[in-house]
Amino acid sequence: MKDNKILESETSIINHTPPKNDVDFIGNNSRIREIYSVINLVADSTTPVLITGESGTGKDVAARLIHSRSPRSDKPYIAINCAAVPKDVFENELFGHEQGAFTGAISKKMGYFEMANHGTLFLDEIAEMAPETQAKLLRVIENKSFRRLGGKEELYVDVRMLAATNKKIDDAVNRGEMRKDLYYRFSVIEIHLPPLRERKEDISILVEFFLSSLCKQQKKNPKKFSDAAFNMMHRYNWPGNVRELKNVIERLVIMCPEDIITPNYLPMNIADSRLHEDTINITVGTSLKNAEREIILRTLTAVDNNKSKAANLLGVSRKALYNKIDRFDE
Ligand SMILES: Nc1ncnc2c1ncn2[C@@H]1O[C@H](COP(=O)(O)OP(=O)(O)OP(=O)(O)O)[C@@H](O)[C@H]1O
Ligand SMILES: [Mg+2]
Repeated sequence: MKDNKILESETSIINHTPPKNDVDFIGNNSRIREIYSVINLVADSTTPVLITGESGTGKDVAARLIHSRSPRSDKPYIAINCAAVPKDVFENELFGHEQGAFTGAISKKMGYFEMANHGTLFLDEIAEMAPETQAKLLRVIENKSFRRLGGKEELYVDVRMLAATNKKIDDAVNRGEMRKDLYYRFSVIEIHLPPLRERKEDISILVEFFLSSLCKQQKKNPKKFSDAAFNMMHRYNWPGNVRELKNVIERLVIMCPEDIITPNYLPMNIADSRLHEDTINITVGTSLKNAEREIILRTLTAVDNNKSKAANLLGVSRKALYNKIDRFDE
């Protein structure tokens, strides 16, 4: 490009590019498979992509995957968390400045756009960006050019823009946090990552993936979940999505000394979820003795036969529980 004032040597010193096969985006659910194919289709183009979804659903992973599948994969990948950059310095960070642009600008500074030239710029938590900055961002996307603060020259860049938000995008637009015009520009291609509770069939491959990779990473023997423990992981609702699942497994890999992870090693909220969701059907007319027996047996199953935990949940002492079990055959 004739007007391109950006020196290649300037941009090449910044390389946040992940190695090519670095991105593990695990999932087999039909919506995830659809997302894979959308990612493969959009990776080649330069159209902006908006990635939405609750916290922990994999928006960062999806953004890195788009970059690593694109022809830009060996070029810079710059990820910015818009919530972490103070609003008053954002434009300086994004566009850079010329020497003397303002008091304290003792030398020229390159902004994120220049750093990401020929590569990808990922703006995470985009609804946190000030609306005035959003307007300027839109201008860069439309014109593919910008000026450094205090600069007169129009600098042309070739940057693939990705953005993400964990807010409900319609609400963010209605509240004025995300400018409508910028939203329309980004929403040409929107990838929505479903929460983990809506793709529970993926829990099993995610568990397998995190167990094996984290055991290797922590230099531990391979571990597995007992059936009862896995069922509890499956029943839990995962409000923190894949991030929460990964964190729970990391903790278990470090804390559980056994090769088989049983329910007594699970965090209370996950072990409890089974008890909350599980119901016991006891027919009218059942004797108290039989009803008690059923409740005790089901509780023991839920906690993998851990008597202390069962006694705790049933609100009796361990000794009282043993006495009740001993009297089952009377
Ligand atoms: N499909 C997936 N396969 C493998 N790992 C995943 C997947 N989804 C998420 N993860 C892992 O879960 C964690 C959280 O994912 P990520 O950071 O992409 O979430 P996010 O949607 O960007 O969350 P936030 O809104 O809080 O920024 C990361 O460690 C990521 O590697
Ligand atoms: Mg993120």
